[in-house]
Amino acid sequence: MLHLRRCTWRMKNLRAYYTVKNEQLPKDPQQVAKQIFSKIKATGPITVADYMKEVLISPVGGYYMHKDVFGEAGDFITSPELNQMFGEMIAIWFLNEWSKVGSPKPFQIVELGPGRGTLSQDLLRVFDHFGALKGATLHLVEVSPVLSDIQARRLCIQTDNILDQKSVIYRQGITHQGIPVKWYRQIDDVPNCFTLLVAHEFFDALPIHKFQRINDRYKEILIDIDTSKDYSFRYVLSKEDTPASKLFIKSSENRDHFEVSPESLVIIKKVADRLEADGGFALIADYGHNGNGTDTFRAFRKHKLHDALIEPGTADLTADVDFHRLAHSASEAGGVICLGPKAQRDFLLNMGIEHRFRALEENVKPELKEGLQYGYKMMTDKEQMGERFKFLALLPAVLKKMVEKYPVAGFH
Ligand SMILES: C[S@@+](CC[C@H](N)C(=O)[O-])C[C@H]1O[C@@H](n2cnc3c(N)ncnc32)[C@H](O)[C@@H]1O
Repeated sequence: MLHLRRCTWRMKNLRAYYTVKNEQLPKDPQQVAKQIFSKIKATGPITVADYMKEVLISPVGGYYMHKDVFGEAGDFITSPELNQMFGEMIAIWFLNEWSKVGSPKPFQIVELGPGRGTLSQDLLRVFDHFGALKGATLHLVEVSPVLSDIQARRLCIQTDNILDQKSVIYRQGITHQGIPVKWYRQIDDVPNCFTLLVAHEFFDALPIHKFQRINDRYKEILIDIDTSKDYSFRYVLSKEDTPASKLFIKSSENRDHFEVSPESLVIIKKVADRLEADGGFALIADYGHNGNGTDTFRAFRKHKLHDALIEPGTADLTADVDFHRLAHSASEAGGVICLGPKAQRDFLLNMGIEHRFRALEENVKPELKEGLQYGYKMMTDKEQMGERFKFLALLPAVLKKMVEKYPVAGFH
């Protein structure tokens, strides 16, 4: 069975990967469980959002913070890791939109949550191929020290850690194409400049609150200690209204169960404000729904579904992105327009992935052919990643007339 959290890993050696030494892993597999246990004991049940944050990015034992979680030896595989065509289509999209507004320089490529750095690597390769890197800088927003190290080794000819604790840049380097690259923990610290921003499978990793309707009233779902076993947890319903239930339940809401990611709404608003002020384009790709999703919170370990409350920190936690709410938060103030969400299959086919696939298929070494075909099918098949994954584009609202005249590639 295909696990729709990214996809199951089948083909070996689709791309070449770096690995991370095991001594970087936390020694106690129950470390995160113990932290959460103490927190709940001290303050009472916590929100699913607090739980997710602690599990995924706690500096001590957080899932993303200590190991390479991708690929065959990890827990999941993402489209940029499957094969180069995914990044190439995204690069062509940016090149196309950027050239329509006169290719402003200087400009910066920004990636949120770059994983192994593979998508940025493909973007730089294609921009370089078209001689479009003059005046470019690369800016990566990444919380994980281990993943930033993998990104640096993949992208750079030379890098330095920045030891000054006051600096918002914690690492910097020069890419193989000679482009300066810097690493930040949050988007607020990325400089202001004309921006081409991409976020692939970033928003699904951000914390969500969960709500359940009981007798016509919404209750927030919280996480409490399960006293029947050591360091184990259970879901409970909030007795009272919570700050999130007061703030995030719309009067028009009619689902029995739904999820909201306030952090995602804040980040997309920051992206929108930047595009309005500095100019640029953003492309958000993730699995998600258009405001009709319900209970999508889940965990993956070793390419299989896993109980999100068992051994926290050893499995990935994720929830489908609510593109409707994301687009609303981005465009509410009127500074940007949003296009999509468009199914990944439609976006990639509109961008010409089939032609690229056929060209590569003709020229690829025989031993790599099966991997290429597998990657193409995974990314475009309706039953696999083709429909569940979606693309959302953000453009400054001043381009509205231009967009009407010259439709945005991939979205028509
Ligand atoms: C699911 S991975 C996706 C990686 C990559 N974009 C890809 O598609 O292969 C999520 C990425 O976001 C990073 N991340 C998760 N939470 C984050 C946060 N709050 N701020 C910055 N980065 C975060 C992770 O460390 C990881 O690099």
